[in-house]
Amino acid sequence: MAETPRRILLGVTGGIAAYKSPDVVRRLRERGAEVQVVMTPSAREFVAPLTFQAVSGREVRESLWDAAAEAAMGHIELARWAEAVLIAPATAEFLARLTHGRADDLLATLCLATTAPVFVAPAMNRAMWANPATQDNVKILQGRGITVLGPARGEQACGEVGEGRMLEPAEIAERLMQHLTCEPVLAGSRVVVSAGPTRERIDPVRYISNRSSGKMGYAVAQAAREAGADVVLVSGPVALTPPSGVHVVRVESAAEMHAAVLQAVNGADVYIGAAAVADYTPSVIHPQKLKKQADTLTLELVRAPDVLAEVAALRPRPFVVGFAAETEQLEAYARSKLERKALDLIAANLVGDETGFDRDDNALLLLWPGGQATLPQDSKLSLARQLVRRIALLRSPEQAPAGREALGGSLA
Ligand code: C5P
Repeated sequence: MAETPRRILLGVTGGIAAYKSPDVVRRLRERGAEVQVVMTPSAREFVAPLTFQAVSGREVRESLWDAAAEAAMGHIELARWAEAVLIAPATAEFLARLTHGRADDLLATLCLATTAPVFVAPAMNRAMWANPATQDNVKILQGRGITVLGPARGEQACGEVGEGRMLEPAEIAERLMQHLTCEPVLAGSRVVVSAGPTRERIDPVRYISNRSSGKMGYAVAQAAREAGADVVLVSGPVALTPPSGVHVVRVESAAEMHAAVLQAVNGADVYIGAAAVADYTPSVIHPQKLKKQADTLTLELVRAPDVLAEVAALRPRPFVVGFAAETEQLEAYARSKLERKALDLIAANLVGDETGFDRDDNALLLLWPGGQATLPQDSKLSLARQLVRRIALLRSPEQAPAGREALGGSLA
C-alpha cells in the first residue's frame, strides 16, 4: 500500500464554520498527519490564529508579506511541502477566487503553486451554495481535479435549513485520508452505477415510487471513483449531491433508467445495479389528472424492464453486480436472485422500518458463485469501499491487493 501522505496544508477561509476547523486539525493529527494551517485575513474574524497554533503545534501562516515567515519557509517552499491541500471551510468567495486562479493572498497563491491534490469542504448559506455562479465554479474546479467534500444538508448558522453546511470535522478527515490512501484497484476500468428510486407516472401529478434514498448507490459511485474508475452514475430522482469526478445521467422512470443504463454499459467493465427500479409501471399514463369517482380505483400495472437481467444477458457483458433488498430470508432469496439473473455478485441487505432505507449505515451480505462475505454494520461509504475491493478481487484475483482473509470472505 502506498504511504499515506502526512503533510497536510489546511487552508481556513472566512466563514462561520471556521469555528470547527481546529477540530479538523485535531482529527487529522489523530490520523498521523502533520498539519500546517494557513488562514485568509477574513478567517481571523472568526477564529484566532493562536487557537490553530495550539492545536497544530505549528505557527500559523497568514500573509504573503510576512518577511520572517517567508525567510523560514517561502510560500513556494510551503506549496511544495504540502502533500495535500485541504480548504475547510471553503467559502463561496474562496471557491470563486480559486476558479479564477487568483494569487492575491497567501492561501490562493499556495493553491495555484502546489502540485499536491487539493480538497475543498464548502460551507455557506444554502442559497449561496445553490446559486448557479457557485455551482458553475464547483463544476470547473471538479473538472480540474479538485475534490469537493460535501457540503452536508441541515440547519445553518443563518437559521435556514438546507444544503451548505460544512461536513463534520471527523468526516472531512476520514474522507480526505481515504482519498489519499485508497488503492486504485479499479484504475482504467469503466464502471456504471445505477442509484435511487424510479418514478412511474400515473397522471400528470401522481406517480408510484419507493423509499430508496440513493445513498448506497451514490456511495458505491464514490468508492469506484476513489478506486480510480471512470464512473457513470445513472440516477433516479434523489436529494443527494453526486460525488465529484463522476459523470451523472439523471432519469426518472424505469423505462428511462433502462435506456440510459443500456447506453452507458456499452463497453463498460463493471455494472453495479444499486437502483430500486420499479418492477411494475402503469399500463397507461393518463393525460389528465384522474378525478375521484367510485369508492375503489383499479390501476393496471405491467412489468417494467428488468435492467439488471438485461445487462447480465448482454454479450460481451460487463462484470454484473446486483443488489437485493429483502424483508425476510435474506440469504436464500439473494442466492436465488444471483443464479436466476446470472450475476457475478449480489449485495443483499435486510430492509424494513428500522434498516436499509434513507440511513447512512447498513450491513451487507455479499454472495457470488462459490463464495460469500458478511460486511457488518458500517457507514454506506465504508461498505461501498469494501464492495469495490471485492469486485476488484473477483474480477482479477491475482492483481487485487488484499487477500480474501483481509476482506473477511469465506469460500463456500
Ligand atoms: O429482483 P429484485 O428487483 O429484488 O432485484 C434487485 C436488483 O435488480 C437490483 O440490483 C436492481 O437494481 C435490479 N433491478 C433492475 N430492474 C428492475 C428491477 C430490479 O435492474 N426492473
